[in-house]
Amino acid sequence: MKKKGVRRFGLHTMVVSNELNPAAHVQTARMLFSLAAEISKKIGIEFEFVNLGGGIGIPYKPEQVPVNFESLGKEIKQAYKEIIEGNGMPSLNIYMENGRAMTGPFGYLVTTAIHEKHTYKEYIGVDACMANLMRPGMYGAYHHITVLGKEGAKSNHKYDVVGSLCENNDKFAIDRMLPEIKVGDVIAIHNAGAHGHAMGFNYNGKLRSAELLKKTDGSVEMIRRAETTQDYFSTLNFPGSKYGALAAK
Ligand SMILES: Cc1ncc(COP(=O)(O)O)c(C=O)c1O
Repeated sequence: MKKKGVRRFGLHTMVVSNELNPAAHVQTARMLFSLAAEISKKIGIEFEFVNLGGGIGIPYKPEQVPVNFESLGKEIKQAYKEIIEGNGMPSLNIYMENGRAMTGPFGYLVTTAIHEKHTYKEYIGVDACMANLMRPGMYGAYHHITVLGKEGAKSNHKYDVVGSLCENNDKFAIDRMLPEIKVGDVIAIHNAGAHGHAMGFNYNGKLRSAELLKKTDGSVEMIRRAETTQDYFSTLNFPGSKYGALAAK
């Protein structure tokens, strides 16, 4: 690249995902700092930045321990001192891309139980579906569930909590012990701030929900309205369409 005239350099990696062990992130930083030092020395280039990628995990299960950002920062700073400063390299920027850690724990998918089915298993059908949060359906990821108003009740019922798509993997929880759920109960699915609304989709013509922001003073504001049928068809563009771009003209 240098021979071809490139003058600005950075290093980027993404080696772990949803990793709660801070040692893995420190190791990534050490690996990239060392590589930057080695390449700088060998071919005489300066790195403007090292990008450590994302991958900091969040405690999806109540018993898991969150990553301590303070001590992680200190350890990465120590590695920087040893390797970058220790090799007499000019200072460089450190970037990270932690989407999940920054947003995940702060979003909830709030949904209502609208069906129950008691066959060989106990099913609770909710009005959300994997188009609102696809991790559980796509790869069986655990998202904690709270039945609002029943936080203190015993979790003595085993349910599959299922969405409303006609797909058999559209399940938010399988064999989950929860308090007894009645149709009309409101259910909060935790850690939906990442991979939720922003990565939602319109499978089966499902319309995206509204988004509500709870502020530090306890007040709630709607920061995104729910999609309408008009929104869904708004990109259609053929003569005679009732909804789309031509209809708007
Ligand atoms: C290159 C890159 N950066 C950042 C991320 C985000 O990771 P996370 O939001 O889990 O920190 C990903 C996810 O796969 C990725 O591939």
